[in-house]
Amino acid sequence: MAANKLFVILATAYGALGAATPGEPTIADLNPYPAKPRISFKSNNTFKLTVFSDLHFGENPWEDWGPAHDKSSVALMARILADEKPDFAVINGDLVTGENTFRENVTLLLDQIAGPFNAAKQPFAVTFGNHDNEPNITHAEEIAHLQKVSPFTYVRAAPDGVGGDSGPANYWVPIYKKQSDKAPVLILWFFDSRGGFHLKPNSTVGVPDWVDASVGDWIQSETIKMEAAWGPADSRAAVAFVHIPPHAIQALQSSVSSDKNPGMNADTLGNGSVQDSASVGNDSPFWDSLVANVPNLHALVSGHDHGNEWCAREPNKKIIFCFDKHSGYGGYDSEGWGHGVRNFLFGTPDPKAGVETWIRLEEGTTKARVTLDSSYDPRN
Ligand SMILES: *[C@@H]1O[C@H](CO)[C@@H](O)[C@H](O)[C@H]1NC(C)=O
Ligand SMILES: *[C@@H]1O[C@H](CO)[C@@H](O)[C@H](O)[C@H]1NC(C)=O
Ligand SMILES: *[C@@H]1O[C@H](CO)[C@@H](O)[C@H](O)[C@H]1NC(C)=O
Ligand SMILES: *[C@@H]1O[C@H](CO)[C@@H](O)[C@H](O)[C@H]1NC(C)=O
Ligand SMILES: *[C@@H]1O[C@H](CO)[C@@H](O)[C@H](O)[C@H]1NC(C)=O
Repeated sequence: MAANKLFVILATAYGALGAATPGEPTIADLNPYPAKPRISFKSNNTFKLTVFSDLHFGENPWEDWGPAHDKSSVALMARILADEKPDFAVINGDLVTGENTFRENVTLLLDQIAGPFNAAKQPFAVTFGNHDNEPNITHAEEIAHLQKVSPFTYVRAAPDGVGGDSGPANYWVPIYKKQSDKAPVLILWFFDSRGGFHLKPNSTVGVPDWVDASVGDWIQSETIKMEAAWGPADSRAAVAFVHIPPHAIQALQSSVSSDKNPGMNADTLGNGSVQDSASVGNDSPFWDSLVANVPNLHALVSGHDHGNEWCAREPNKKIIFCFDKHSGYGGYDSEGWGHGVRNFLFGTPDPKAGVETWIRLEEGTTKARVTLDSSYDPRN
């Protein structure tokens, strides 16, 4: 493809671009956030990512315990952000328990969630879960509202036509070694696993609960642009986030072991707990495309199943999967599970190097620490 033609394609896709050098047009700076600070590694070459999940704000507002839970969740978020001081944070879906919300004031819950991130000036990205699509709220509305109330969020919607019915939150965030670099060393991918119900009073029609096939094609077209702008895919690493685990993860549970796959394993995976669990194969275009087009993928990370914390390698695709830690006081729970986050620590921008990950509970204790690298959990 001629450089000129490529420039036009990139310019069309990304709108305003930095000035090209006079004469030869340069490859576009493929930065979807020209107005925001670039997220980068620290000067000592480390990068820490803190992942919240399943906050479930807005349960039973007509009783005391629901709003009390939300206060506890705000306190947990503020404390963990202050302690961990991550370079970037993620909320991996189910921000609200949408079925308990009211059309006229549901966005007040999003204001509460954005609060601790705004106060800490903490850049963050978001995926959405099945409880974020309900008769009174949609993923698209949550994206728009978070963009309005937080200058620190990197959440954005995919182009029209990508994501299928009620699944707009497919996007990526580039992470640079240094702020001044043109090409990132790490891409954080965010996918929309949909589920829940359509926006309308008393809606009982379910939204498909898997990443739409259109996202598979979009991953491929985005990675082609990335290679054109920044060079070979292999020179970058990636971590991917999606609220509901891919269907293929269900088969791993029977063989997790406490030494290789530490962390709670208290939720049995089955109908409703993984993508497309009422049938099989609908999430394959997404899963296949992710694995085919995104090398050096350190992990695919999901929440949804509040009682699970383990990481394990999916043996067909050789991809490491990790559960989040249930962060919110809302959402189903059990005595002793506790609330917290999953951290990832990159010790170097080298895309091939291993990454450390562990669960941190609210009180500060840590557990389930593993290093995700090529020798982690070999399965055949
Ligand atoms: C890198 O810097 C951070 C922030 O100052 C510090 O917490 C961390 O321990 C440092 N890591 C290394 C490996 O030097
Ligand atoms: C939203 O409105 C409902 C019904 O009036 C009320 O019970 C609830 O407390 C309100 N929620 C918030 C977050 O203010
Ligand atoms: C949605 O909001 C409306 C208006 O406040 C309320 O009547 C209804 O109970 C809410 N929940 C559902 C599930 O429709
Ligand atoms: C929704 O259900 C409630 C409770 O059954 C009913 O009162 C209301 O009329 C229904 N609304 C619509 C628009 O169907
Ligand atoms: C899973 O649940 C759905 C909805 O409740 C149901 O239609 C489907 O038959 C169930 N599938 C299996 C495999 O149990």
